[in-house]
Amino acid sequence: MRAGHTVRVVMTPEATRLIAPATFEALTGNPVTVDVFDEPVRGQIAHIRLAQESDLVLIAPATAHTLARLALGLADDMLTTLALATRAPILIAPAMNPAMWTHPATQAHVQTLQARGVEFIDPTYGIMACGDEGWGKIADTPVIVQAVQNRLNRSETLNGVRILITAGPTYEPIDPVRFVGNRSSGKMGYAVAHAARERGAQVVLVSGPSALHPPAGVQVIKVQTAQQMYEAVSEQFDACDVFIATAAVADYRPECMLPYKRKRRASKWTLKLVPNPDILGTMAQRRTHQLLVGFAAETDKVLENAQYKLRTKDLDLLALNDVLEPGSGFEVDTNRLTLLYADGRVQPLPQMSKLECARHLMDAIESLLQRSEGSSES
Ligand code: CTP
Repeated sequence: MRAGHTVRVVMTPEATRLIAPATFEALTGNPVTVDVFDEPVRGQIAHIRLAQESDLVLIAPATAHTLARLALGLADDMLTTLALATRAPILIAPAMNPAMWTHPATQAHVQTLQARGVEFIDPTYGIMACGDEGWGKIADTPVIVQAVQNRLNRSETLNGVRILITAGPTYEPIDPVRFVGNRSSGKMGYAVAHAARERGAQVVLVSGPSALHPPAGVQVIKVQTAQQMYEAVSEQFDACDVFIATAAVADYRPECMLPYKRKRRASKWTLKLVPNPDILGTMAQRRTHQLLVGFAAETDKVLENAQYKLRTKDLDLLALNDVLEPGSGFEVDTNRLTLLYADGRVQPLPQMSKLECARHLMDAIESLLQRSEGSSES
């Protein structure tokens, strides 16, 4: 309301047991709808009118049950009926017990909804009403309001821009059963692909092994090893405008792969490793017009190491994260990035979901693209 929006509240019958609809009516100055058969304006079907008139639907807080109903496309109350009938963007801020949030059923529903373009404002870490501690606390109100503003302001600003992204780990086989790998889940890279796609970019995602569903509308090339990733990138690179290397490429691979599973023995086993190609570094030498963006996961002398990488790999932008910091780095859903630009600017960002990090990265890329367009025109 304070940001100048017209707010209409729809409540589930369960929500009315916690807060009376009259509270929201007084706060918003608009009628609250709970029942599908409520008709605040006679002769108008409320859920269709709300679905068509709304610029955005925000579901906050969303329970595990509501996420499940939305994923299945049920329309058994006013809220789910509205969600099905609207063509407006839907934002969801979940809130539930940590065990319920991390349950595979809930996470599968989140992925289903994300694949349909629904966006999530991820819950944070904290102590729940039930006393449990973990991920599941609804995001802070300013974060939710900002996410709504960002979504309303967003447009297809990267329409026609071709973006090539690497993501996930690489697996370097030792024998048919074992590999040398790392803890990367692919979350950051998939979030970058999502953020690029939602701005209208043509996205090719070269992904190492990852259990994640790729975002809708993205071309995915699945690979296992660094060598395969290098070849896939090499093939796509000339046709791209921006190359973003988020992958945690294994720097070394076993010199040769055993054709059989090696048996356990009492003696020591020494594995000989040989270096893998530096994908980003090689592309930097081949670039014609491409903008190059790297990631650096550091554990010590973080800024110094990152600045060195930016220079030696000849990048336009480098996103640095300290993987030893809690809520940053591998496997978790959040990250805290510092953006380093080739011109020396350093932009530290607060901790936020990987998707929000990716959106900030897209803002930075957009501004660099505009600059290079400006300089080629002048
Ligand atoms: N990268 C790459 N190919 C490699 C290694 C890294 O494309 N073989 C990319 C990563 O995707 C990332 C950037 O280079 O964008 C930096 O990765 P990082 O592993 O931090 O850098 P390295 O050059 O491997 O340096 P080090 O591991 O020694 O810190």
